[in-house]
Amino acid sequence: MRIQDAASVMKSNIEEVDRMSKTIESLANFSYYESNISLLECKPIDLAHLAQYLIEKIKVFAEKKSIGIEVKTEPIKILGDQAAIEEMYLNILKNSIRFTNPGGYIYVQVSSFKDQATISIRDTGIGIAPKDLPYVFEPFYKSTEIKIHNKTSAGLGLAIVKKIVERHNGLIQIESWPNKGTLISISLQMSF
Ligand SMILES: Nc1ncnc2c1ncn2[C@@H]1O[C@H](COP(=O)(O)OP(=O)(O)OP(=O)(O)O)[C@@H](O)[C@H]1O
Ligand SMILES: [Mg+2]
Repeated sequence: MRIQDAASVMKSNIEEVDRMSKTIESLANFSYYESNISLLECKPIDLAHLAQYLIEKIKVFAEKKSIGIEVKTEPIKILGDQAAIEEMYLNILKNSIRFTNPGGYIYVQVSSFKDQATISIRDTGIGIAPKDLPYVFEPFYKSTEIKIHNKTSAGLGLAIVKKIVERHNGLIQIESWPNKGTLISISLQMSF
């Protein structure tokens, strides 16, 4: 075997190991939030502040794809598990960056109505076909197009998000329009 070929085999093996370890980590996370035995450490969290902090952290990935992020928030507190709520935000934001073409936008809004906090994350991405939409919260589900073009993802992000929202007694909804974009809305009980 030529040295170049050996290097290329090695590179693809490393990529495979990396993909597998990410899947195992996601699976461990999913089982953790799925099990009602695992305890959440709930304390007051400002949803708006956390959203702004996380967007600052991941903005670089959006910028690399020339995707703009617009944020509109008001200070809103909930009682939640900080690590879980971070994971929830990041999985949704990563999807929006992954599934939005260069030049697109992501709009993040954190607002309140009565005693409910609402987080909405909308993108102008590729959207999800109506036939796939009912299944996106199921573990390992990926839309047909993604299965063909994106072999690196596990299909666990939204399943984890749904479990986290449920563990916080919240509600999650998804709406999507192919070639126009996707909107995820989450409502959680506010804490005063
Ligand atoms: N913002 C979005 N725009 C378009 N399609 C989306 C979006 N979010 C999710 N999807 C679709 O839903 C599927 C499931 O999303 P999920 O986050 O669970 O998995 P993933 O992103 O493929 O993998 P992972 O999150 O485990 O890396 C995706 O594969 C994709 O087909
Ligand atoms: Mg994902």
